Amino acid sequence: MKPKLLRGRVLSFHRAPVSLDDYSSFHFEGDGAVIVEDGIIIAFGSYDQVKLMAPNDIEEVDHRPNLLMPGFIDMHVHLPQMQVIASYAPNLLEWLSNYTFPAELRFADQIHSERIAARFCDELISNGTTTAAAFCSVHPVSVDALMGEAARRNMLIIGGKVMMDRNAPEGLRDTPQAAYDDTAALIRRWNGVARNHVAITPRFAITSTPAQMEAASALVGEWPDLYVQTHLSENLDEIRFSCELYPSAKDYTDIYTSFGLMHSKTLLGHCIHLSERERDVLNETGAVAVHCPTSNLFLGSGLAPLNELQTRGRPVRVGFATDVGAGTSFSMLRTMDEAYKVQQLLGTRLNPLQSFHHITLGNAQALGLEQRIGTLAVGSDADIVVLDTHATFAMRLKMEAVSSLTEELFVLQTLGDDRSVVETYVAGRPSKRPTTSTRVEGSAC
Ligand code: GUN
Ligand code: ZN
Repeated sequence: MKPKLLRGRVLSFHRAPVSLDDYSSFHFEGDGAVIVEDGIIIAFGSYDQVKLMAPNDIEEVDHRPNLLMPGFIDMHVHLPQMQVIASYAPNLLEWLSNYTFPAELRFADQIHSERIAARFCDELISNGTTTAAAFCSVHPVSVDALMGEAARRNMLIIGGKVMMDRNAPEGLRDTPQAAYDDTAALIRRWNGVARNHVAITPRFAITSTPAQMEAASALVGEWPDLYVQTHLSENLDEIRFSCELYPSAKDYTDIYTSFGLMHSKTLLGHCIHLSERERDVLNETGAVAVHCPTSNLFLGSGLAPLNELQTRGRPVRVGFATDVGAGTSFSMLRTMDEAYKVQQLLGTRLNPLQSFHHITLGNAQALGLEQRIGTLAVGSDADIVVLDTHATFAMRLKMEAVSSLTEELFVLQTLGDDRSVVETYVAGRPSKRPTTSTRVEGSAC
């Protein structure tokens, strides 16, 4: 791919901000630029400096006055739940049986899987998200669809076939052996192809027998460097039922620990109701608590105490995610707006620098991928989002009263969504498609 110079205001973090005026935690240029070549960032800084390094005939894309940031990272989202989003249900377990499992059954079909995988990647990109850790359905074909689509776009996707052999309807249950064989085959077929990562994905303790947890454990033994993704401590009935199903476990976390599933690449969706002991286990193992605020509010699951998780003597690593379809938006901006409100209800606050750090470098570090994504540093993959902080009438009017970058970021987080995403570069390629107002084919009305 020919090199390209992208000009605009540029913002990239190099560490977690500790306060609202922690200006040394990030690099900001009012007139900045990056050069991308062959999917990699090869220069980053002020426009004047970067321009000096560029060949005379370089293609220049002027995004001023928009803001260039590293592409957003969503650490927990469900591919087969695109049509589950906005389903009316009182709580997690009823939402799963009444809407989610029926929708996931359709992913036995290759055509359906491929259609939704394409729309899933479009929707992520439309919202400025360039990396996602995704749960597919129990059917290997759903993983093939996602991995194939991500590879065609050269998009960094972590994905896995959910392992589930009980407490789910016929057609959504595998067996311990099939889960092992299918996951192993998917790892061999897709892990490391383009930018794909295959994750070992036992859905949660309720839908896996001990024999299936053993199978997951065997996969971790064989592929210790792969991500493990699951759910933990989201809902009080879920916790109670999990502990009934595993009576010898000390608590919910101990179920995963006892099968050797907890390590520094284990991504645990939710972690709302953890005990002190469970938090210590996350601290010791380096497993990541993935906060999904829009989902937690939508299902009434609870308020995740981020401050307690992150700032005590034995801190827990934390990531942020949409959790669509229990989550109500693909936008990491909407996600951080709701994260802010959850913390407000708990009497603490997330400042806007922290929010934008979390959805870029913070999530990259939580994935152990900070050398590749999450910043605009030279050598990183050229995953870049271009943001218009004045995208709507309400934003433009509010911006008249804004006088600092942090205030501007807070408005972007509070009022922004996909309308603020002007362009998304995936490995250097502009990838956001124009939205159309036409109905999705096959819709009921
Ligand atoms: N726990 C087990 N499966 C799911 C799921 O699909 N969504 C959420 N939010 N929680 C779960
Ligand atoms: Zn989930």
